[in-house]
Amino acid sequence: MTSVIADAHILMSMTYASRANPDVSAKDFHEILKQAQINNAANGITGMLTFNKDYFLQTVEGPRAQINRLLYSLIADQRHHDLQIIETRELNHRAWAEWSMNYASPTEKNTAIYLKYSTTVDFNPYLLSAASAHDLMNALSDQQD
Ligand SMILES: Cc1cc2nc3c(=O)[nH]c(=O)nc-3n(C[C@H](O)[C@H](O)[C@H](O)COP(=O)(O)O)c2cc1C
Repeated sequence: MTSVIADAHILMSMTYASRANPDVSAKDFHEILKQAQINNAANGITGMLTFNKDYFLQTVEGPRAQINRLLYSLIADQRHHDLQIIETRELNHRAWAEWSMNYASPTEKNTAIYLKYSTTVDFNPYLLSAASAHDLMNALSDQQD
């Protein structure tokens, strides 16, 4: 338990890609987002989520113990599969402090942003470097404002 308390003082971020299971609908996506926003507000987690075709790309940031707990839930979540961590790092400060979970889905306006950071015409987050994933999330988030 001691280590869990100590971890609460260390801020980290984790970025991962995953694939939605075939039966996940737009309604399910909104439920995931709502659940993330409610839980994260209670757990001191902030971040950014994007859903494009059947791919998820998410960055979560918060106390290390909470991020690790969320990772276990995410891996067990039947709504997606093949979770691959793209990056974890310690943070000095949060990038999405104002968002329990910001999100972007594909629109006509942001198509070029997805393409800018992709090596392929179709968005595929498994092919992103950590730096590109980070820049893509920032660019999508900036466009929301
Ligand atoms: C793509 C995706 C992103 C998710 N993001 C979050 C999140 O940011 N925070 C969270 O608490 N749960 C998130 N979830 C849901 C968790 O996997 C899990 O179902 C939830 O944390 C369990 O919450 P509960 O204890 O309230 O049932 C996400 C699920 C998916 C499929």
